Amino acid sequence: MSKAIPLVVSDKLTKFFPLPRGKKVHAVDGVDLTIHEREIVGLVGESGSGKTTFGKTLIGLLPKTDGTVKYRGKALPQKYGPADFKRQAKTMQMIFQDPYSSLNPRMTVEEIVGEGLKLYSGQSSSDLRDTVASWLSRVGLEPDYMSRYPHEFSGGQRQRIGIARALILEPEFVVCDEPISALDVSVQAQVVNLLEELKQSMGLTLLFIAHDLSMVRYISDRMAVMYLGALAEIGPAHDVFFSPKHPYTEILIASNPEPDPELERKRLSTTITGEIPSPVDIGAGCRFAGRCPHSMDRCRVETPLLKPLADQPDRYVACHLYN
Ligand SMILES: Nc1ncnc2c1ncn2[C@@H]1O[C@H](COP(=O)(O)OP(=O)(O)OP(=O)(O)O)[C@@H](O)[C@H]1O
Ligand code: SF4
Ligand SMILES: [Mg+2]
Repeated sequence: MSKAIPLVVSDKLTKFFPLPRGKKVHAVDGVDLTIHEREIVGLVGESGSGKTTFGKTLIGLLPKTDGTVKYRGKALPQKYGPADFKRQAKTMQMIFQDPYSSLNPRMTVEEIVGEGLKLYSGQSSSDLRDTVASWLSRVGLEPDYMSRYPHEFSGGQRQRIGIARALILEPEFVVCDEPISALDVSVQAQVVNLLEELKQSMGLTLLFIAHDLSMVRYISDRMAVMYLGALAEIGPAHDVFFSPKHPYTEILIASNPEPDPELERKRLSTTITGEIPSPVDIGAGCRFAGRCPHSMDRCRVETPLLKPLADQPDRYVACHLYN
């Protein structure tokens, strides 16, 4: 990539969910990540590793427990108020994980897609209708469909509605949370192609969360691997995929991903030895130590930090085998 300009930078970003008796879920635990302008960073990891929570906390949809996020060098609020959301809606958006539950069933497509514009742009209702119509065409839906309700659409069409809703305000940065996982394999490539085309034409920067590692490799510039709320590895997507360094990444990739998300979830949970541990009682040492074939004494007491590899400074790995 030529002259990478940092767009979104998380510094020790942390999100805990409180539980009774002072316990907490360490959903995101001190994540440092820099996403550059016009870059696609893919974020992978098993179910429950904290991908959605990271994406939502990054753009303020969930309040942070600790850490900071900077956007174009400026710190975003620790906790968002209505004015902050209004200001930010034109720069950062999210395409949600589940196209079946993320669209309000009582709103028409026109209301869903136009909601952000109505709240934040002050367009007249006829202009707004025209803008919604043009966005429906842009994502491959008939503008005549705008008076219909979400249940009248297929999964792929709903995801296109979700994409139009997120992009109509022409944001710079979009968190795409498993935008294809709930779709039939036959329509996954169509939605990925649409996202790529919009990324090119709008100059978007994306955090692309997914289970399908080969799809992430295909679409992303860099790939980040998350395990139990922390990053295990990050680097150029091609290098991470074809030459993984962290033992967890190695196992994820060797497991040969299934394009079907349900099969994929089942396969991952059986291929890696043992269950993903509880994110509630996180102690010292490496989070992957209980499942790692290379675990050493040191791994159980000392937490490995995400550090660049000596011979490949664009690759970062959190493992005592390397640092
Ligand atoms: N609102 C919440 N309250 C309590 N715990 C939560 C909440 N949301 C998420 N969690 C927990 O935080 C952890 C991370 O969840 P998250 O949904 O971010 O994972 P994920 O990587 O997106 O998983 P998936 O691949 O299934 O979408 C999980 O242990 C989850 O149970
Ligand atoms: S730090 Fe140790 S336990 Fe953790 S991944 Fe590396 S070798 Fe395995
Ligand atoms: Mg998720």
